[in-house]
Amino acid sequence: MERSRWYKDMVFYQVWCRSFRDGNGDGMGDLWGVLEKLDYIKSLGCDGIWFSPIYPSPGADCGYDISDYRDIAPEFGGMEAFRQVLDGAHARGMKVIMDLVVNHTSDEHEWFQKSRRRIEPYTDYYIWRPAGENGKLPNNWDSNFEGKAWTYDEVRGEYYLHLFAVKQPDLNMDNPKVREEVKDIMRFWLELGVDGFREDVITYISKKEGLPDDHIFPIYKGMAHYNHGPHVHEYLAEFKRDVLDYYDCFTIAEAPLVWPKQALRYIDEKNGQLDMMIQFQCVAADCLFTDYIPTKFSLRKMKRAFSSWQYRLRGKSWNVLYLENHDHPRIVSRYGSEKFQKESAKMLAAMYLFQQGTPFVYQGQEIGMTNWRPDDPKAYRDVQSIYNYEHSKKSPQKRLEMLWRSSRDSARTPVQWDDSENAGFSTGTPWMAVNENYRKINVAQQENDPDSVLNFYRKAIRLRKSLSCVRNGIYREYRHWSGKLYLYSMKDKRQTILVVCSFSDKELPFKAPAGFILADGEKILGNYRNSDEETLNPYECRVYLWK
Ligand code: GLC
Ligand code: CA
Repeated sequence: MERSRWYKDMVFYQVWCRSFRDGNGDGMGDLWGVLEKLDYIKSLGCDGIWFSPIYPSPGADCGYDISDYRDIAPEFGGMEAFRQVLDGAHARGMKVIMDLVVNHTSDEHEWFQKSRRRIEPYTDYYIWRPAGENGKLPNNWDSNFEGKAWTYDEVRGEYYLHLFAVKQPDLNMDNPKVREEVKDIMRFWLELGVDGFREDVITYISKKEGLPDDHIFPIYKGMAHYNHGPHVHEYLAEFKRDVLDYYDCFTIAEAPLVWPKQALRYIDEKNGQLDMMIQFQCVAADCLFTDYIPTKFSLRKMKRAFSSWQYRLRGKSWNVLYLENHDHPRIVSRYGSEKFQKESAKMLAAMYLFQQGTPFVYQGQEIGMTNWRPDDPKAYRDVQSIYNYEHSKKSPQKRLEMLWRSSRDSARTPVQWDDSENAGFSTGTPWMAVNENYRKINVAQQENDPDSVLNFYRKAIRLRKSLSCVRNGIYREYRHWSGKLYLYSMKDKRQTILVVCSFSDKELPFKAPAGFILADGEKILGNYRNSDEETLNPYECRVYLWK
């Protein structure tokens, strides 16, 4: 089927359902809540929704451990509520994409239950290995979340591989039957009317033959032998040829460690197997590889990440533009400033929304939600955070501070809808605590304020969509050496824009790059009412247009 590549004109909103909005008062976000808020999402200018997993799941990794791929969890409203959401979205001209998590399943999935008992055809659905001498683990690989990547199963009498939590056994993608299952799952959702998939850690699905020890990676051992593994392109091409090519859908791959050149082997429009790729470099300007190895925020590192993807994919593929999702702490607390919450939230929005690609907005980002810092470590829910807290040798206070800074839960607290109890998220007891700052930062208050972060997002998205140079133009960065200023232009035959972003909490002198005469252009967006042309206020942003 001829691909229409409709995703290039869209802005997506990510719903992490359990913290979005509780429609039935049991404390857990659900699809009834989403249904209530479809108009709200649309009002942002978003035309698509990405749902993090909403399938039945024991919840060991908040839904990324799936126990049934062909249903919607009853606590989220089941299939019936999902169909309503899907129809409601489509009626509003919005697309819906689902998370496809097929590197692993839940250990409570029927396949695993049968596999551990060697019931055919499931015996080889997972990656089983006998114990070595004296019960030695099959190899030295680490899990991404909980210690080593192998757990012994008493029922089968063997170890199984899990690159993530103990309750997330990895599927054996080398088994053609497993690949048929994946294709069936894809068909199931596409037939139901969903418009595409975000494919979870899809670069991990092919492990090196023989599962050798990893002597390359100092941490996350094993990654050298499973990230971009030997058959990954072959399997993805098979999924495309047998399923995706029959639908006008699109796919986004999640790739924890990838460079543009490597990415193009997956997403080159001429011969790729997927459409876009979520890379992590844009959210790693204040850490090394993972949020748990924090470093000082470096604007230069951040700009290098954005620019290299803009330059290298240009004309060949299409970028995913994002600053937040459910796996990383809030962007205002990381790259911006909580002191200048409003200013820096707007600046960060302008910073990424005018680049080429398909932008994603994560729930709560549009009101500038900030990191959560509970006093009690027991308030944390995330499997990775709990493991890291329990296994760190630091003092309890230092460990708690580590979670404040790095935990995925920092961005998973309920969306702050208004200043009533529980931030208007739920009339019951929320499954996870609400950030205390909800009385100051919430949707209702921002709806009524033309100057709010929320209304800035609306305006910026509207503008983005009206500018041909953002969709089709050429990106160019200026003063890449500056540690305080991010300056770039987008230019096509009809128009040019210049985006100016200050990352300083002080005033900054400003001069346009050579060739840009501000007096001839028009300032079409900014986050300060009065600003002097040659001085930038703290976290000021401006977008100028020349026609
Ligand atoms: C992806 C998801 C993350 C999940 C992990 C394992 O990185 O975004 O939330 O924990 O995969 O499925
Ligand atoms: Ca609920």
